[in-house]
Amino acid sequence: MKLTVQASAPGSLMLMGEHAVLYGRQALVFAVSKRVRVSLQPRPDGNIRIQSHLGDLEVPVGRIKIQAPFRFVLAVLRQYERRITSGFDLRIESDFPHNVGLGSSSAVTVATCAVLERWTRPRVRLWALFQKARGIIREVQGLGSGADAAASVFGGLLAYRTFPARMLKLKRTFPLVVLYSGGKTPTVEVVRRVQRAMRNQPTLYQGVFDLMDKACGLAVRAIRQGNWRKLGELVNINQGLMDALGVNDARLSELVYALRADPDILGSKISGAGLGDCVIGIGRSNRTDWPGLLLPLEISQAGVTID
Ligand code: MEV
Repeated sequence: MKLTVQASAPGSLMLMGEHAVLYGRQALVFAVSKRVRVSLQPRPDGNIRIQSHLGDLEVPVGRIKIQAPFRFVLAVLRQYERRITSGFDLRIESDFPHNVGLGSSSAVTVATCAVLERWTRPRVRLWALFQKARGIIREVQGLGSGADAAASVFGGLLAYRTFPARMLKLKRTFPLVVLYSGGKTPTVEVVRRVQRAMRNQPTLYQGVFDLMDKACGLAVRAIRQGNWRKLGELVNINQGLMDALGVNDARLSELVYALRADPDILGSKISGAGLGDCVIGIGRSNRTDWPGLLLPLEISQAGVTID
């Protein structure tokens, strides 16, 4: 077994297709230029110590129990428990707070899987790493498309489908403005709300998901052609569809329309489950006094790295 192992994985944002991706439709997701870093340093005793800005926890090897605030990390450790033969310190550092909607759960799951894979196996295979991370996220949350895990493993801008997992990396990228709304409703809660609302209008909701799927297909074409005006138009249509699902609110609308008031922004929408998190605008802007917190980031081609 290697001595110290370090890995890092990018956070992510959804561009289009949220919710629909949980029902077999396509989504667009990208890795961002903010990362989570995990380092594993073996220690002589049989304990595992986890340290991050969220807290400090020490557990004996063989007695790992999933608990807050390290549910994703501990779920990873449980998966590797049979191959862990000695204790270690696990340090987690992040370029961004866990509650701003940049996919921190996926990024920390992927980076932790990566250090454990490298520490316990001779070779790390990215596809296997993605499958494992996606399975762990689903186990902890009870659901999840795995789109954010895909972005954290492979980096870049991906057209993604869940079953069977399929992804296509799009080479062209574009500038973005990302605003944090200042709040978050847990993803699982928003997904359950949409599920409940869908029971009243199943045909209409399926129709909305189909339109989101079509919009994603057209967006892939627009991105390949570098047609950013068309992409902006499709992003705006997708925002209307998110509203139809019931995941928009007054605060998010304020940010969406503040972005659209800027002539350099070609389109804007909620990113992620909705009812909080971030709003993204397509384009570059010189404005700095946005009503939400400006998150300086861009699409990053770099996925997980291990050393
Ligand atoms: C959350 O970022 C996006 C959802 O589609 C959930 C998922 O894809 O796992 C709402």
